[in-house]
Amino acid sequence: MCGIVGFTGCTQAAPVLLDGLRRLEYRGYDSAGVAVFDGERIEMVKASGSVEHLAELTDGGAKLRGTSGIAHTRWATHGAPTDTNAHPHLSENGRFAVIHNGIVENFAALRAELEGEGYVFASETDTEVVAHLLEKYYDGDLKRTVMRTASRLEGSYVLGVLCADEPGRLFCVKEAGPLILGLGVGENYFASDVTALVSRTKNVIYMDDGEFAELTSEHITVFDRTGREITKTVSHVVWDIEAAEKGGYDHFMMKEIMEQPRAVKSTVEPRIRDGKICFEDFDLSRAELESYNKIVITACGSAYHAGMVGKYVIESLCRIPVECELASELRYRDPIIDGHTLLIVVSQSGETADTIAAMRECMGRGAHCLAIVNVVGSTIARLADSVIYTHAGPEIAVATTKGYTTQLAALYLFAVWAAGLLGRIDEARYAGLVSSIRALPSQVQRAIDLNVHVKYLAERWHELKSLFFIGRNIDYAAAMEGSLKLKEISYIHSEAYAAGELKHGTIALIDEKRLVVALCCQEALFDKMVSNIQEVKARGAKVLGLAPEGNRRIFAEADDVLYVPRGEQLFTALPEMIPLQLFAYYIARENGCDIDKPRNLAKSVTVE
Ligand code: G6P
Repeated sequence: MCGIVGFTGCTQAAPVLLDGLRRLEYRGYDSAGVAVFDGERIEMVKASGSVEHLAELTDGGAKLRGTSGIAHTRWATHGAPTDTNAHPHLSENGRFAVIHNGIVENFAALRAELEGEGYVFASETDTEVVAHLLEKYYDGDLKRTVMRTASRLEGSYVLGVLCADEPGRLFCVKEAGPLILGLGVGENYFASDVTALVSRTKNVIYMDDGEFAELTSEHITVFDRTGREITKTVSHVVWDIEAAEKGGYDHFMMKEIMEQPRAVKSTVEPRIRDGKICFEDFDLSRAELESYNKIVITACGSAYHAGMVGKYVIESLCRIPVECELASELRYRDPIIDGHTLLIVVSQSGETADTIAAMRECMGRGAHCLAIVNVVGSTIARLADSVIYTHAGPEIAVATTKGYTTQLAALYLFAVWAAGLLGRIDEARYAGLVSSIRALPSQVQRAIDLNVHVKYLAERWHELKSLFFIGRNIDYAAAMEGSLKLKEISYIHSEAYAAGELKHGTIALIDEKRLVVALCCQEALFDKMVSNIQEVKARGAKVLGLAPEGNRRIFAEADDVLYVPRGEQLFTALPEMIPLQLFAYYIARENGCDIDKPRNLAKSVTVE
């Protein structure tokens, strides 16, 4: 969360910084600010509200002269999203400006210390201590000052530093949060995410924790924690800026929903050769795989929901016990994990703080870690023993769509690959499953085409105050994601329940005002779902049923129906999610919600 960007070059910095901020707004959008060095002093504009508001205040950046600067878009942790709490923060003498992503955990002690020395604080943020520490330690050597300052900080801090006494030089520091350097011609950059850089350069350096960098228009120098210069590999970003733009759609979310056939294909196709599944960046022998007595999947949010689907599919095919646990819970347990555990970490961004912490905890106990990640070069991808990249392309909307479905595709590939290697399925079943995986992109397309009327259903139901999603088995795991999708972008209260569990309490909430979305795609459990539908209808609820295409019985049970293309039963969660994403999207649109940037949320949660 929070997006940071820095630029130093020969052209006006502020317009470049604002452009970068616009692309980072998915990380936080409650306030934004920019600071540039104008040749004499630091000029700064910051305000609560969107990056667009900041652009208006600065006339698109034109009002701020200066060719080096830093900028920030905020997701508030310490202090409300006010003008004063917005970043950058200035030192008392105005010679330093600092932007920060993360949480300085010892800020209270540092603040007390600095106040004791006479420093006056303007904001309630943890970040402001950094600005004052920079002033306090500055002795004419900016590198040494940055190192001394960073050595006082505990917690997570990705920092950008601008100093009025060092024209054209920027410093940035990485500790527990994403930071990427961009190499241009006669200009250089840093940012939280490559999306902020690709319109200007595709040559990037992924920073590691404990490293910091000095940028001038001509050079980038990276140092380790001790200040020793280190050599970093320059990577080339393979996608174009169009991938991070709306391309004619009203919202990134709709664009990303529509991209799913292609995104799932990008996950699947490179991994299937001559009818066999193989991973370019991950391999285990049969003996190694047999040495694991369980698999633990950990993740947050939608990635956790993908993990829940993965649990059903992997257990069913591989007959290995699978636990799926929220990373924020796993990290503070004393989990039974050792060298016989295969850990699967799922993350779109590869930067989620809780997921990284849970991963470290489990790897520290000897688990082998396989990461399923979208963002190339992200922290999780680099920490893991092996990686399966989902290759979904950049995902900008805060509510994940293609990020989630490509995670499912990667988990299916893994499950079939492992079941084949372990000899738990015969060749015919293996071949059938592989062709079912290959059929997923066209099933997704069909799910999009089948459900043109989902918009009308959303018009009918958008005034609901509360609803339930129910399902059994894999449909239950899918219900969790369908419910989350709706609540995060439409703010309508929604809960997912295992259909059989409803009668143990939640059914008390069912009345004639309630809509129940019943996921009935597991055909073996269809009759059981019909019983649950009848239970809620008997209490007056309306039912929106999801069933495999061609299932006529659902029309007798549900008030409205969404069809899901038929395919392998184990893989239904993937096409099933398409109408649910569309349903959430259209309801949020009917209700005038800010679909791509829902209130209080951030796409990449890099704080605890
Ligand atoms: C945030 C996002 C969710 C996402 C979760 C995990 O809460 O809003 O959409 O599922 O983080 O993110 P990750 O990048 O680890 O998949």
